[in-house]
Amino acid sequence: MKRIITYGTFDMLHYGHINLLKRAREMGDYLVVALSTDEFNWNSKQKKTYFSFEKRKQLLESIRYVDLVIPEESWEQKATDVDKYDIDTLVMGDDWEGKFDDISEKTNAEVVYLKRTPEISTTRIKQDLKTFNVVKDNK
Ligand code: CTP
Repeated sequence: MKRIITYGTFDMLHYGHINLLKRAREMGDYLVVALSTDEFNWNSKQKKTYFSFEKRKQLLESIRYVDLVIPEESWEQKATDVDKYDIDTLVMGDDWEGKFDDISEKTNAEVVYLKRTPEISTTRIKQDLKTFNVVKDNK
């Protein structure tokens, strides 16, 4: 059984996220998603999510490509997670290219960066919605 792990915030779940999860799952037989907690997002990424951790978790758990959702609470937990969940491959989108290469030295897991789906992101959705409001207000 080949086990994969990926990390992220997955706020306002969109097709870029689904593409990433689908491709990650296809690399093995079991996909663990380490989902950034609200505290970790705020303290370490200066990100305030639209959906709470519990709601983001519930959405991810309803996706057929996701087998298990665990909390991501620190940058340092990756090596521990790899050992604890017996992970073969750590997968990330290529916006993180090179950032987690040390995990393949610290553990037996390989690290793979997948191409992001072009154009879509949570940030973009938020920005576009703001613009739509402006257009609406101007009418
Ligand atoms: N991802 C992707 N393609 C996209 C958007 C995200 O492959 N168009 C991947 C990221 O590379 C990451 C995972 O999905 O591995 C979770 O990304 P996340 O940062 O939660 O999503 P974004 O939409 O990039 O959010 P933000 O705009 O807040 O950074």
